[in-house]
Amino acid sequence: MALRRVRPWRLEIGAAAASIALIVVMVIVLAHFNGKPIFDSGVLRLNAIVSVLSTASKSFLLYVLAGSIGQWNWILFSSRPRRLWDFEQVADASRGPLGSVLLLFNPKFKGGLLVRLGALITILAIALDPFAQQLVQFGQEMRYTMDNGGASSLPFATRYSKGNSYSKFHAIQIDENGRMEALGTSRLAYPDADFGLQSATVFGITAERHDISEQLSVRCPSGDCRFPPVTSLAVCSRCEDLAPHLKRNTQSEGSQIFDLIQDQSLAVRKENCTEYTLPNGLFLNNLDDDSGGGRDMIFMTMSGTTNRSNTVVMGDIDTLIWAQTIIKVDGGKDSDEKWPNYDVHATECALYYCVRNYTAEVHNATLFETSTILEDEKRLPESWSIAQPDSYENISDVVVHSLAYHPVESAIERTDLQLGRDGSDISWSISQPAVDGISAYMQNTFASCLVGTVNCTDDVNTWAPTNGYLVGGELLSGQWQEQYEPSVSKTLWNEKDLSKIFDNVAMSMSNAIRNGADDAESKSGSIGVPVTVGNPSGDDGFCISV
Ligand SMILES: *[C@@H]1O[C@H](CO)[C@@H](O)[C@H](O)[C@H]1NC(C)=O
Ligand SMILES: *[C@@H]1O[C@H](CO)[C@@H](O)[C@H](O)[C@H]1NC(C)=O
Ligand SMILES: *[C@@H]1O[C@H](CO)[C@@H](O)[C@H](O)[C@H]1NC(C)=O
Ligand SMILES: *[C@@H]1O[C@H](CO)[C@@H](O)[C@H](O)[C@H]1NC(C)=O
Ligand SMILES: *[C@@H]1O[C@H](CO)[C@@H](O)[C@H](O)[C@H]1NC(C)=O
Ligand SMILES: *[C@@H]1O[C@H](CO)[C@@H](O)[C@H](O)[C@H]1NC(C)=O
Repeated sequence: MALRRVRPWRLEIGAAAASIALIVVMVIVLAHFNGKPIFDSGVLRLNAIVSVLSTASKSFLLYVLAGSIGQWNWILFSSRPRRLWDFEQVADASRGPLGSVLLLFNPKFKGGLLVRLGALITILAIALDPFAQQLVQFGQEMRYTMDNGGASSLPFATRYSKGNSYSKFHAIQIDENGRMEALGTSRLAYPDADFGLQSATVFGITAERHDISEQLSVRCPSGDCRFPPVTSLAVCSRCEDLAPHLKRNTQSEGSQIFDLIQDQSLAVRKENCTEYTLPNGLFLNNLDDDSGGGRDMIFMTMSGTTNRSNTVVMGDIDTLIWAQTIIKVDGGKDSDEKWPNYDVHATECALYYCVRNYTAEVHNATLFETSTILEDEKRLPESWSIAQPDSYENISDVVVHSLAYHPVESAIERTDLQLGRDGSDISWSISQPAVDGISAYMQNTFASCLVGTVNCTDDVNTWAPTNGYLVGGELLSGQWQEQYEPSVSKTLWNEKDLSKIFDNVAMSMSNAIRNGADDAESKSGSIGVPVTVGNPSGDDGFCISV
């Protein structure tokens, strides 16, 4: 039986070419939309197009396979005699996957390697569609557009003037030291810091950094924004270890505790008790072999000041708001040791006005901000000058330059305190009520006029050197107890990393200054909107995954 091919291969070749061409078109389409926003509106969608292309390609492929397998039947039967059942099998295979499976797993079907291959491809072709669909993967990518409408905003302060100031008019005189005295009263100036700034300061003492960061009034409607860098008036902090300045002696009477807690009834004095001192006059002593081990002992003394001359290492800061010197004894309720068998540390932390450069981004509705201090922007010498110099021509330079709140001298009217640099026309300012109010607020928050101190006035520098403490020990009830002044002492005692607290306070105060800036200054950024893209970047891309 001599059988011939019934028709030439032209149609199969044409269909194969069409099938391949459609795959190529599909790859080009996918490559085009790789990492690009896709059109997903209306009837025409990317996966619809891919689906049409892959289905069309598959149809052509199946046509090629059906035709080829069918024709192969003729070739098989023309080469040698075969069972007629084989003819039926091959014809079934050409009709689709089921026939192909039966043919592939029929052990009795001999020869026809190419037919088997064709059957295998017919089966595999089933998977073409779903695979093609999988190539179309979507992801979300942020597309940023510059916001010109002011929908997004990052606040910054060029001038801050919140706070209140009230001064009494009263006869004054200037003494031989150039200090101002008010005749008949001890106080002329009543400044008050803005309440928002006051609460931000206290919040900064205890809050976590990310919670503080959330207090800045940033607007970002989509929850994802980028802002250009802004420079702003700010509060900075610095902490230094005072180990090189801490001196130890055994010349004290160990009786400091009785002055602090003003319970002279139990007062005990002993010769040659161990004491630690700092050059600014802060000290800490306890009764050797009697203090500690469950009995009352001073664990911390503090000295806070608005006068940089009264600090140990912060003398170079000419925009000082507050400096806190702390002597701390390592230990607490877990220690059975008696004084002086304890480690003692000293630290000084300062808060001061500065200019910072902020870089901010909002992601997922959370602000991420980094900043650097612009060290070149310094206090301008001609700023913070006396408004009517004639009336105060005999006043001391110390008073002229001082930013510290003073109950009488703060009544002198001044120009803004300004930070800037020579040759630059940009400067950052803070008004006198703000400077005086913040200074007065700091001294009432971070220091106390302790009962043992005599003649405290409204000027914190008369409360020095020791104006805060923490005493711990076992009192009558057998329970560990603590006494401290002012309230913040307990937090400063509990926190091992003091620079963290002052950093947080500085950040929180800076937020309040930026939120409360004159003219509510702010800068717009670019707003990120999530866009659906084909195969989000970071993946291999369509072509490679094919
Ligand atoms: C205290 O020290 C001085 C000088 O070292 C010594 O003369 C004196 O006896 C000491 N006093 C006591 C009670 O140990
Ligand atoms: C600051 O402290 C120094 C040294 O104690 C003192 O001479 C100066 O008068 C103080 N400044 C003010 C403004 O009180
Ligand atoms: C602020 O910081 C940004 C980014 O770090 C920098 O490009 C820019 O020059 C800085 N601006 C100033 C005034 O230093
Ligand atoms: C965005 O924030 C939400 C809620 O805080 C969180 O569940 C989600 O995982 C965050 N997404 C990213 C990308 O960080
Ligand atoms: C400053 O001191 C001089 C000399 O003591 C005195 O004559 C003058 O009146 C004083 N000026 C003022 C404004 O008090
Ligand atoms: C406290 O003030 C009184 C009355 O003004 C004065 O006599 C005394 O010397 C002052 N004490 C101190 C330590 O300055």
